[in-house]
Amino acid sequence: MSTITSFVLALLAMPAALAIPAPDPKPTWGWTSTTEPSTTKAHETSDSITATSAVSTASSASCEKHWRGWHNVQKFFAFGDSYTTVSFNPNSTQPNPANPIGNPPFPGYTSSNGPNWVDFLTATYNQSFVETYDLAYGGATVDSSLVAQYLPTVLDFRQQVNQEFLPYYENNSTVGWTSSNSLFAAFFGINDVGNSYGAQNATLNADIFVVYAHLVDQLYQAGACNFLFLNVPPVNLAPNTAQYGASAVALEGAAIADFNLRLQRLATSLMVTHPDTTVFQFDTSALFGQILNKPSSYPQTANIVNTTAYCAAYANGTPAKDTFNATCGVPVNEYFWLNSLHPLYTVHDAMASQIALLLE
Ligand SMILES: *[C@@H]1O[C@H](CO)[C@@H](O)[C@H](O)[C@H]1NC(C)=O
Ligand SMILES: *[C@@H]1O[C@H](CO)[C@@H](O)[C@H](O)[C@H]1NC(C)=O
Ligand SMILES: *[C@@H]1O[C@H](CO)[C@@H](O)[C@H](O)[C@H]1NC(C)=O
Ligand SMILES: *[C@@H]1O[C@H](CO)[C@@H](O)[C@H](O)[C@H]1NC(C)=O
Ligand SMILES: *[C@@H]1O[C@H](CO)[C@@H](O)[C@H](O)[C@H]1NC(C)=O
Ligand SMILES: *[C@@H]1O[C@H](CO)[C@@H](O)[C@H](O)[C@H]1NC(C)=O
Ligand SMILES: *[C@@H]1O[C@H](CO)[C@@H](O)[C@H](O)[C@H]1NC(C)=O
Repeated sequence: MSTITSFVLALLAMPAALAIPAPDPKPTWGWTSTTEPSTTKAHETSDSITATSAVSTASSASCEKHWRGWHNVQKFFAFGDSYTTVSFNPNSTQPNPANPIGNPPFPGYTSSNGPNWVDFLTATYNQSFVETYDLAYGGATVDSSLVAQYLPTVLDFRQQVNQEFLPYYENNSTVGWTSSNSLFAAFFGINDVGNSYGAQNATLNADIFVVYAHLVDQLYQAGACNFLFLNVPPVNLAPNTAQYGASAVALEGAAIADFNLRLQRLATSLMVTHPDTTVFQFDTSALFGQILNKPSSYPQTANIVNTTAYCAAYANGTPAKDTFNATCGVPVNEYFWLNSLHPLYTVHDAMASQIALLLE
């Protein structure tokens, strides 16, 4: 029996119209330097996962009774973009007791001016020793042939699976991951939506989700049974889009809502197609909405006083987590946004704390 746990999905405002801002590039900054859910039909077919035998074809065990709780997770594989990356290089030092993310030195190079949600989940809200293989890349989309990335060298979700996870880890007995001691997270869409909403392409998201579903199926075929899907937060409210005004905010908001609805359908479809999976959905969108409306909703974000703008003096990262520059009015960690698109580590901290509760 599979489980689904989902926060109430909040649909963002429906589109008004127009305004076509150019997307900003999404570099990875360093630590110092730098509507409720749709009535999802049980047998949704449009985004369905390729039906296959329930038995994995790879070396890993089949999926029976795989989820044994967050406290039994030993291997965490993460796929995503700048919100998720720690700049792990799978050719270098692997996760180990001295550094649960392997390399670079913990917390890695993130976009949050400190640890990100992967770091907090791995080393703060963990209930076991979790080895984290974070294959995310700043700027990643699901499929760069559908939505171009800001740089061609960025590995998209397809490449994170096919050029990193499968060759390095699928059959790697040294790593020792199994269907039941592992969790696989995917957090995509911020760049897919951000780089495409201006074009208002009515068929694009459907095509993205054909690819997304195929990649999830590849992971399943490799032995992954426990999945965590994170939906797209309201990045339409980030300075990157807000600077273009209400119509741009509404237009991207509608694209995010559509993306998130499709992600929810994918998750439901996965559970229906493969009842031996355990699927968690984390509503990043609702969490960000809560914090933006009322920072004191979470102790980690209670000090935030500026939820609308970023300060240029902090945007490339600061020497300390609470650096103060008078031109900014308040210390860096009293801002929600570090720069035009990325929230501070405080937001990631609140996020990880809630994800850990979801995984219990
Ligand atoms: C790892 O090393 C291989 C072989 O040298 C190379 O092809 C690959 O691009 C490297 N991967 C990364 C992420 O650096
Ligand atoms: C959580 O992770 C940290 C960092 O790897 C580790 O030192 C700690 O022992 C872990 N906590 C538990 C309860 O295993
Ligand atoms: C892993 O092993 C399975 C089963 O032998 C095989 O089908 C698959 O191609 C292997 N994967 C890689 C990346 O070598
Ligand atoms: C398997 O993982 C180990 C690290 O745990 C690594 O040294 C080795 O190169 C990997 N093997 C392959 C084939 O990627
Ligand atoms: C819309 O997106 C599809 C991919 O889903 C692409 O093939 C098509 O060219 C795009 N249309 C326009 C007008 O950009
Ligand atoms: C938020 O920060 C920006 C940039 O420093 C500043 O212009 C704005 O007045 C601040 N807003 C609030 C409500 O403090
Ligand atoms: C504060 O920020 C301004 C604008 O970026 C910069 O010129 C100045 O050097 C900064 N002050 C300190 C003490 O870092």
